[in-house]
Amino acid sequence: MNLRKVQDADLNEKKVLVRVDFNVSLDESGDVKEEFKIAAAKETVEYILSQRGKVALVSHFGRPGGEAKEEFSLEQLVNDVERILGVKIKFVGDCLDENIGDELETLQDDEVLLLENVRFYAEEESNNAEFSKKLAVPFDVFVGEAFSVCHRDQASVTGVAKILPSYAGLWLQREVENLEKLRNNPEHPAVAIIGGAKIETKLPLIHKFEENFDYILVGGKIANEAIDQKIEFGKKVIFPVDFATDRLDIGKQTVANFRQIISDAKTIVWNGPMGKFEEKPYDNGTNEILDAVANSKAFTLTGGGESVEVLEEKGMTDEISFVSTGGGAMLEFLSGEPMPGLEVLTK
Ligand code: 3PG
Repeated sequence: MNLRKVQDADLNEKKVLVRVDFNVSLDESGDVKEEFKIAAAKETVEYILSQRGKVALVSHFGRPGGEAKEEFSLEQLVNDVERILGVKIKFVGDCLDENIGDELETLQDDEVLLLENVRFYAEEESNNAEFSKKLAVPFDVFVGEAFSVCHRDQASVTGVAKILPSYAGLWLQREVENLEKLRNNPEHPAVAIIGGAKIETKLPLIHKFEENFDYILVGGKIANEAIDQKIEFGKKVIFPVDFATDRLDIGKQTVANFRQIISDAKTIVWNGPMGKFEEKPYDNGTNEILDAVANSKAFTLTGGGESVEVLEEKGMTDEISFVSTGGGAMLEFLSGEPMPGLEVLTK
């Protein structure tokens, strides 16, 4: 994929709108659970500032349904964003505020604007052309840095990118490079480990992996669903041979079989837990497989809310070669589905 790169943009004194994805989950005390999603924007923000550009960050946060709702306000993330990105944030309570242009001009070198949740406007998700125009007005350049929403054809992802000179951010470039190599040209033996729930969302992915991968190991709720629905797969797709009580986790023999296949792999992609990992002892299969993946010498890639949650909880994020910020977006990209947010940034 031939993306237009932010390194090729003239950013000097330019007002730059950066589409980030700060759609993170919070714990009971309101602390950010997926810090790495915010951290993904750090390098690009630093780069634009180093080129004397003025930065405004735009993001969605949850699904407020086109209305301003306090619980979905990005204002609650300001301290975390400042800490993680290492910049000072000036929060703007409306992404269409008419003073954004002036605010950008008065920013200090270490200051960045964070605009309020773009999904407070229904026009964001309906990709309304007038809304995109209004969003673009104060800016000279658009940078897409939110891989995890690139499967959405929405105003702040594609609409504005069609109006302004637009480029892919540094993290986005790296993410596409890694995922593209894995999808099209993996080193063999290549193993995909697919778990979690909702077999219908994972079927296209499993079929895609059947083209280029050597083994697809299926666990979690989707294994039960596929077995119950008698869905047929080719012989590369390996199902559990045994389960824990009530089929809430893969069984010991399955763990041994999966470990054996993982130990020979040169490429491994993992998405979704092997069982009901949030409840002991049904976390055993997920822990065992994660241990095998983390100790493998293969190129390892993972992504998706639950997989990353498990990794973060165990402090094992660094043991995976590449952690994608994409949940749904990663699955769609790897399944070969169209990605409007990337197409709009392609030469
Ligand atoms: C995600 O968290 O996967 C992205 O931010 C996309 O969010 P959405 O599914 O609400 O569009």
